[in-house]
Amino acid sequence: MTAKIISGTDVAAAIRQECRGRTEILQAAGTTPGLAVIMVGADPASAVYVRKKIQACADVGIASRKYLFPASANQDDVIDQITALGADPDVHGILVQLPLPAQFDIKAVLSAIPREKDVDGFHLYNVGGLVIGDTVFPPCTPYGVMRILDFAGVEIAGRNAVVVGASNIVGKPMALMLMQREATVSVCHAKTRDLAQFTILADILVVAAGCPNLIVGPMVKSGAVVIDVGINRLPDGRLVGDCDFESVSRRASMMTPVPGGVGPMTVTMLLVNTISSAEQSVAIAGQGTAPRARRPADAGLAIS
Ligand code: GUN
Repeated sequence: MTAKIISGTDVAAAIRQECRGRTEILQAAGTTPGLAVIMVGADPASAVYVRKKIQACADVGIASRKYLFPASANQDDVIDQITALGADPDVHGILVQLPLPAQFDIKAVLSAIPREKDVDGFHLYNVGGLVIGDTVFPPCTPYGVMRILDFAGVEIAGRNAVVVGASNIVGKPMALMLMQREATVSVCHAKTRDLAQFTILADILVVAAGCPNLIVGPMVKSGAVVIDVGINRLPDGRLVGDCDFESVSRRASMMTPVPGGVGPMTVTMLLVNTISSAEQSVAIAGQGTAPRARRPADAGLAIS
């Protein structure tokens, strides 16, 4: 078998086109969606991600602002900035780029973001909402994976899904989203013994471990759908995922590449969440009711 390659770049391009239409409608109604990005320190990878997010905003008509703090910054100063942005009606989304320097209490910083502006979906309210399938903003990477699966017409209900990696920002929310769509979900992580005995059962295999060549062909069920979330830079400069593309693509029926798979979707779903937040703020202002931000209709997380 040779896997059909699902291009995240193509799916992202289609969604960005929808985004442009939505921002035009908002702008015609007098609202420009706004995203504030906060970065603390000068981690080179974070700087690249932040630059991509700012460029993507411009691409679809979102006004973005960048707030840079030195690595030695005081946590209270960062929280004060978040509080000010929370009260700013021109800002619909606030994002704190992770990781933060070691002296920071990440939970305290993320909890300072008002939940209706938490477009990264990392606030405890949004994380908790995932458990009951009613999150305001789904976290961008697993949300992007769900959109890829839906775009490719992959049936989810009743199928065995295995998530490799149990991080707070990808693996855990990914498992909850798949469970919400009635997959039978297993989560494997760094302490899992004999990884292959789990992965071989997967109809849908999502790998987000940050470890090149972790998954090789014989570990994959014939005909499985494989989503490779890993982005690893090899010593020779090549960018690869967590799967050995050559051998896995001979077993899988569908597979995402690296680069050009999940990566472009993460930034795109941030745009979607920011625009949804702006739409909700307009709807709330129109109703004159107390804010009760809702998950966007297209979140692909139907509540059963
Ligand atoms: N660091 C790595 N991935 C992410 C992400 O999706 N959002 C934020 N804020 N920081 C990250």
